Amino acid sequence: MIESFEGKTAVLTGAGSGFGLECARIGAQRGMNLVLVDVQQDALDAAAAELQAAGAAVLARRVDVADAAQMAQLAADVQQRFGAPHLVFNNAGVGAGGLIWESSVQDWDWVMGVNLMGVVHGVRLFTPMMLAAAAQDPQWRGHIVNTASMAGLLNAPNMGIYNVSKHAVVSLSETLYQDLALVTDQIGASVLCPYFVPTGITRSERNRPDVATAAQPTKSQLIGQAMTDKAVSSGKVTAAEVAQRVFDAVGAGQFYIFSHPQALGNVQSRMENIVRMENPPDPFLARPDIGQRLREQLRG
Ligand SMILES: NC(=O)c1ccc[n+]([C@@H]2O[C@H](COP(=O)([O-])OP(=O)(O)OC[C@H]3O[C@@H](n4cnc5c(N)ncnc54)[C@H](O)[C@@H]3O)[C@@H](O)[C@H]2O)c1
Repeated sequence: MIESFEGKTAVLTGAGSGFGLECARIGAQRGMNLVLVDVQQDALDAAAAELQAAGAAVLARRVDVADAAQMAQLAADVQQRFGAPHLVFNNAGVGAGGLIWESSVQDWDWVMGVNLMGVVHGVRLFTPMMLAAAAQDPQWRGHIVNTASMAGLLNAPNMGIYNVSKHAVVSLSETLYQDLALVTDQIGASVLCPYFVPTGITRSERNRPDVATAAQPTKSQLIGQAMTDKAVSSGKVTAAEVAQRVFDAVGAGQFYIFSHPQALGNVQSRMENIVRMENPPDPFLARPDIGQRLREQLRG
């Protein structure tokens, strides 16, 4: 939990777009020093220029969050410029879909590298810095927010690779929350689980490092991409509203952050099915037309 953000430091990954950029904007408004991290140089440059003009002290670094060595260098740069960060937003992520057996080794490496290992590195490198700062000063407060997804609490079909990565982030975050509570009262943790929100997520391939050599998408992957495009682009909650929820949760010490709390009925049904030892339910019960179309497309 952080009560006052003024003069504190935030590290934000995926800061060039979407939730990362919107959180950076709020951080600047609250008087925070900002460490902006992104793999896309032009988006990073634009974010850095905007937030500097807004008055924030900015350290911008082009880093692939999946790369352990680049992340270690980032942590060293942050320590040197601002000291231990108070807020760490492990948020960079990419979307991918398709039938689970059709994801290639390259697909798994890319999606797990960014969505899971990016969070692993952020937690692995910044938590010890934060614990050291907390040990020096009983007033010091810090908070780590990891971005998962509703896909970390549900398992919609035809997007298994993304589901797996996000379930892992929920697990990592719940464990982080518990582990921190064993050793300190000064550092908290949260997990952000958005539903469909219009951002750049549907164009994730733009930052795929092996885009030139990756296999052509399979039919199920193309269908998954089209369905996600439609769902994300018709989302009504904005990235700015989600960012506000992130700051509210950090201020309140709230662990679960949802963009669409009204969608939690699906999570409840899944949990109830598990404890009743029933098989996973039809995910298209509320929209049988969508399920019917998907089955026809995949079988056709
Ligand atoms: N938008 C949604 O509907 C939605 C729903 C659930 C979860 N999420 C999650 O939210 C997070 C933020 O995504 P967003 O929706 O703001 O999308 P976005 O594409 O607008 O922003 C993601 C940012 O991450 C950066 N990035 C991609 N790969 C990177 C890498 N290897 N290293 C560093 N930066 C990298 C991109 O350049 C981009 O600026 C992701 O983890 C995503 O999975 C999004």
